[in-house]
Amino acid sequence: MDCGEYPMTVIQQLTAAQAVEHAIHFGFPNRHCERMKNGLKWNQYQKNTFQIVNPLLESGGIVLIHGVRGNGKTQIGAGLGCIWWKRGYHIQRGKARYWTLPDLFTKQKQTFTESKVRIEPLQLARECGLLVIDEIDTDQNSGYDKRELRDLIDTRYRENQKPTLLLTNVKPEGLKDALDYSILDRIREDGAFVQLLGSSYRRNDPNQ
Ligand SMILES: Nc1ncnc2c1ncn2[C@@H]1O[C@H](COP(=O)(O)OP(=O)(O)O)[C@@H](O)[C@H]1O
Ligand SMILES: [Mg+2]
Repeated sequence: MDCGEYPMTVIQQLTAAQAVEHAIHFGFPNRHCERMKNGLKWNQYQKNTFQIVNPLLESGGIVLIHGVRGNGKTQIGAGLGCIWWKRGYHIQRGKARYWTLPDLFTKQKQTFTESKVRIEPLQLARECGLLVIDEIDTDQNSGYDKRELRDLIDTRYRENQKPTLLLTNVKPEGLKDALDYSILDRIREDGAFVQLLGSSYRRNDPNQ
């Protein structure tokens, strides 16, 4: 979806419904955001995860949430995005944006071949107030992508102290194949690895 510019000057304080619309506009998945609008009830595991993750993100840290497929990680990311838009933007903490990792790099590479001038997704990702990167996996990253992701996360933390949330189904022992070791060190030092417990909401998921 298009994550381009938006008439920000009109924003004062958003209603919950407006915050959801903004989250969707800035890449957060439609279905998960709509669930927020329709009064989704968090389960106890998700509530516990929020309690750990929120203060770390508030202080500009890097958090990785892992857990089995379908147990509500993207939903947490969408929830945090909507909350950020509701509470965060009007106190000038910048935009909340969401990409899946494959999508971020696909869109980035598209800008290399496009004739019209557009702000590169990686630049938007570096500068936004809250960055959520979903679907981090072991087999998708070239060495180049891994380094770009490392630089992105490093810049956000080192230069700007801006929070980043990473979401994955990969177990901690497999993460070294998914992420550069220096990102793992950064998460350990300046954030946390948080496991979301609970089983899949998707029935008959063959991957469970
Ligand atoms: N607390 C909840 N109550 C009801 N449905 C939920 C809840 N949390 C997540 N879901 C739904 O369950 C499905 C799987 O959640 P999702 O966040 O996509 O899982 P994951 O990203 O961990 O694979 C989605 O359709 C999501 O909207
Ligand atoms: Mg997901």
